[in-house]
Amino acid sequence: MSTLTPTAEVTESPFDVAALARLANEIFGSLNTGSAPSLQPTASAGGLNVPANPLPPGVPTGPLPQPTTTQFAGLGAAAPGLNLAPTGPDHAAALARPSPARAPHAQAGNGVPDVLLTSVPGLDGRTGGQVLGVPPGIAPPAREAAAPAGYYFLEPAPGAAPQQPSLYVLDLARHPGAHGHHAGELPNKHQLQGQRQPFDVHAIRRDFPILAERVNGKPLVWFDNAATTQKPKAVIDRLTHFYEHENSNIHRAAHTLAARATDAYENARKTVATFVNARSADEVIFVRGATEAINLVANTWGEQHVGAGDEIVVSHLEHHANIVPWQQLAARKGAHLRVIPVDDTGQVILSEAQRLIGPKTKLLAVTQVSNALGTVVPVQELVAIAQRQGVTTLVDGAQSVSHLAVDVQAIGCDFFIFSGHKIFGPTGIGAVIGRKDVLDAIPPWQGGGNMIADVTFERTVFQPAPAKFEAGTGNIADAAGLGAALDYVSRIGLHHIARYEHDLLAYATEALRPIPGVRLVGTAADKASVLSFVLAGHETAAVGKALAEEGIAVRSGHHCAQPILRRFGLEATVRPSFAFYNTCDEIDHFIAVVRRLARA
Ligand code: ALA
Repeated sequence: MSTLTPTAEVTESPFDVAALARLANEIFGSLNTGSAPSLQPTASAGGLNVPANPLPPGVPTGPLPQPTTTQFAGLGAAAPGLNLAPTGPDHAAALARPSPARAPHAQAGNGVPDVLLTSVPGLDGRTGGQVLGVPPGIAPPAREAAAPAGYYFLEPAPGAAPQQPSLYVLDLARHPGAHGHHAGELPNKHQLQGQRQPFDVHAIRRDFPILAERVNGKPLVWFDNAATTQKPKAVIDRLTHFYEHENSNIHRAAHTLAARATDAYENARKTVATFVNARSADEVIFVRGATEAINLVANTWGEQHVGAGDEIVVSHLEHHANIVPWQQLAARKGAHLRVIPVDDTGQVILSEAQRLIGPKTKLLAVTQVSNALGTVVPVQELVAIAQRQGVTTLVDGAQSVSHLAVDVQAIGCDFFIFSGHKIFGPTGIGAVIGRKDVLDAIPPWQGGGNMIADVTFERTVFQPAPAKFEAGTGNIADAAGLGAALDYVSRIGLHHIARYEHDLLAYATEALRPIPGVRLVGTAADKASVLSFVLAGHETAAVGKALAEEGIAVRSGHHCAQPILRRFGLEATVRPSFAFYNTCDEIDHFIAVVRRLARA
């Protein structure tokens, strides 16, 4: 448990941080006494009747006993917007720092007091329950020991019920529908309103300064999470800290800042490895993002292993980033691209995959979640099919990592790739997670500094992986930022996030589907946080514009996934995509605009 020691700096703060620090000590001290109430969820389903759409294994369900606010009374924690608690669960000592980013939130980023913003109907999520900001303390999971308490949780949190990512993924087969909603079984609004959610969305929202922004005079509603996610203060502060205290190139120089920067970079690598359950940090290669990750594999493993007449199998759901590099490779090598079809709901047809993957197949490259439709693809089954044929496998996790717990060992793939900016981290950073024996056996892609062990004019000896694949100066600060993002998400828990998003998606689907003229595109039993649709008589761009005028950001267009939209006879859809900081009230706002357009 943290002990706060106000420093000399503290006295320069415009806030009485010493008092805040004392208060925080009392709070966190009391959390450590074991006197916090034991909040065990009941076995009932909490009024949300979605029998065909089970929540992910390990996700607590049911109504919860009322949490006590007694220990937080001094902080005024029950008052929306009076956010004197740390804005993130990163460290109690944050209260004692004078950084403006850590100051109590009297004002939102746009100068409007956030107490006002949180009372605006469009942003006043109904899932906050009675404790806004500071729920009862729960011990963090062991691997997140730095987190002093579960600020957000309205029920026993990770410390009480450790997350089991491998089970989550493994159970996909036994629980179709585990990650999303089932098309035929949707909660109604009142049931959802009455249901206690796993965390306080208001507390979460206060961690994301941009969510207090106003656009076109309206509160911003960020429903473009599949394109990029917003960044919590923990990430923003991590970047600031890097440039203020650690900035240096890594590895090369024997001085203090080089050591700090190297530690920051390599610790981020370890964080990524832990987050996806890689066997070791040596299996993590930092790249710019998912696109560069796939190009790296195509230009290394692909160059080495794919030849004339070979086949590369992808699914019909793929993003262009998981099509074009393989097409380019196939063109260079005289190989062929094969496509696993999807059914009318937008789910891959496993029997067709079984048929397509054969002796000529060299690679299976599939997405885990479709960016255009939200389909959760049973990648573990696909990988197993491929492996029975000795086929190498790549799973594109760009759209999955922020919605469901990923365990690369359970999936069994050779390569797993993702982008940091889709999981609340900075742009320009992502990762390839490759099996070490596979990485050791393939050549580097780009050549230059950092990736060498020895260079003469006659020959170069390369470093082992991952350095072999990281030529030149990497994106050091953003790697550290990605590590902070993954820590942040881990502290909340993917199982909590999955439960909340499951309900959001179900709620939005139920509200959108009956609107006259709406056609939902992508209705698989297993979906994550994406709602793609068209509205009869309205161009998708016009729907996007009408929503934007109301402050609601969605993507309209082809979503860099033209083949799958064309499979459904479309060139474009409107695509709201949700994250765990979105609320049902934001969805109501969105639905009102679509209804208005539908009537017009
Ligand atoms: N891949 C991103 C999207 O789906 C850009 O919007």
